Amino acid sequence: MHEETIGTVMITQDEIADKAREIGRQITEDYKGEEIVMVGILRGAVLWMADIMKSVELDMTIDFMACSSYGAATRSSGVVRINKDLDTDIDGKNVIIVEDIVDSGVTLNYLKGYFESRGAKTIRICSLLDKPTGRRVDIGVDYVGFTVDDRFIVGYGLDFDQRYRNLPYITYLKD
Ligand code: IMP
Ligand code: MG
Repeated sequence: MHEETIGTVMITQDEIADKAREIGRQITEDYKGEEIVMVGILRGAVLWMADIMKSVELDMTIDFMACSSYGAATRSSGVVRINKDLDTDIDGKNVIIVEDIVDSGVTLNYLKGYFESRGAKTIRICSLLDKPTGRRVDIGVDYVGFTVDDRFIVGYGLDFDQRYRNLPYITYLKD
């Protein structure tokens, strides 16, 4: 049996959709006349990335990577492992990394370095959530959906032990 319980709705599906449209339009502005590759970080970014890309009017392709620094625990181990690599050659490309949440920043810091080593022309980060209180490495997030406080968040792609990703809203685990 699963013993944890979830809290009340923090961010609704409508609020997320509005924010995704706003950011999608901003990306369209910022990269006018350029091509981009959007790289979604599996599995948490799937719903958010689908929302964002619908509002991007640019010549673009998508790809996915899977990496992990978490097991079933709610604290980052600090170790990043690539479980699925890119299928796209990103040499000379404008890359936008799409994440579910930036917590310690360890994952994105690692990924930025990885994309640099693969020759990306520019690299920006678009995250549904930002949890600045968790930060352990200094990393800027270029496009942020919502800033959250120091709670373990689930829903809209974010999991606890692989569950709750299907919730159409954002909530948190009660302790
Ligand atoms: P970071 O490397 O500590 O920034 O964490 C990155 C990854 O940890 C995210 O992509 C999430 O998969 C996971 N994570 C961090 N905080 C949370 C949370 O509050 N809820 C669910 N997953 C989280
Ligand atoms: Mg995750």
